[in-house]
Amino acid sequence: MLKGKHIILGITGGIAAYKSVVLLRLFVKAGAEIQVVITPSGKEFITPVTLSALSGKPVISEFFTANTGQWNSHVDIGLWADAMVIAPATASTIGKMANGIADNMLVTTYLSAKAPVFVAPAMDLDMMAHPTTTRNIEQLRADGCHIIEPGTGELASHLTGKGRMAEPEDILAEIERFFYNNKSLEGKKILITAGPTVERIDPVRFISNFSTGKMGYALADEASRRGAEVTIVSGPVDISPSERNIKVINVESARDMLSECEKAFPDCDIAVMCAAVADYAPKETAEKKIKRENSDRMQIELVKNPDISATLGRLKKENQLLIGFALETDNETENALRKIKNKNLDLIVLNSLNDEGAGFGKDTNKITIITAKDDIQSFPTKSKREVAVDILDFIETKLHPQ
Ligand code: CTP
Repeated sequence: MLKGKHIILGITGGIAAYKSVVLLRLFVKAGAEIQVVITPSGKEFITPVTLSALSGKPVISEFFTANTGQWNSHVDIGLWADAMVIAPATASTIGKMANGIADNMLVTTYLSAKAPVFVAPAMDLDMMAHPTTTRNIEQLRADGCHIIEPGTGELASHLTGKGRMAEPEDILAEIERFFYNNKSLEGKKILITAGPTVERIDPVRFISNFSTGKMGYALADEASRRGAEVTIVSGPVDISPSERNIKVINVESARDMLSECEKAFPDCDIAVMCAAVADYAPKETAEKKIKRENSDRMQIELVKNPDISATLGRLKKENQLLIGFALETDNETENALRKIKNKNLDLIVLNSLNDEGAGFGKDTNKITIITAKDDIQSFPTKSKREVAVDILDFIETKLHPQ
């Protein structure tokens, strides 16, 4: 999305400037070309050497480069940019921008820039809450700037309140959202199951698996970026979606997951069964912790969990699509084809534990997509985010959701 985009990263003098280094890395990794413009006080917090090494370009701070006398044209930089991102933006810089006080290279560049401008404020809570700051931020909004709201939490002053700069990942997501114009799933409702299920043995023990939910959440983010209304029914995981409008319903066991899916499915256009559902659960959950002194052996009777995808497969109407996942260790294609049939799926995404780069907890995946009509396509190892793009592209081009 940001490949080849020209972005000015404006850095001002706040503690949060250290986070700008991470933001710069994320932009570069996403394929953007970055020109850092830093205010004189920004350099007190982070060195130009770090920033130029990471961006691959000299950092601009002054109107003239001292030893060569070269003029740094704020007009040229302003015109070069596809976007300008000021992170962190201090109260002082926000005030200067709102009032046209162009006494440094950063504010001058802002006044020359024709591209969209994103401002991520960062300051202490009282400065943030001051009517002057509120007024200046409102002015920037009225002037067309996109304000990336600061978070609430512990601040550099050790006080707690609103003023923490948004996390670099969230700023990146905001810019990507802005440039993303594929709204191909607008008006579609998508249900995604993700993560493991947890089946309790007693109040402190459970049966589960190593699923982290990364693939399901990546799919949810990508579907949401394409304009879909997304609901994730999620087992316990440590992650959350990057996109703001996704509804997350947290569940623990396979039975809970099934009951939430049954409620959401009738309204859905597409359901993607990404969760690693535990196949069995203890027949009974002990109310009290099972003590080990009581016996040398322990036997837990397990009963089969409901098959969520097969249940939805039975409920599926003609205009609905049901997508499954299969993690296999042997006879991969044969097993996947059987699952398509047994669960009444339209498509299955197969990953094999024999492939390096696929499996639980990894940031990458290597998939083969198989449809109910025997269309088979294999993909190389990619990041889970890119895999999510491939899966949704495939669904949209080959299955044409109604
Ligand atoms: N699935 C489900 N409910 C279950 C088990 C699996 O909805 N109780 C879904 C998974 O989310 C996945 C697909 O079914 O989309 C295949 O899951 P997998 O674990 O590979 O297959 P199983 O049906 O459990 O068969 P097996 O474990 O014997 O391979």
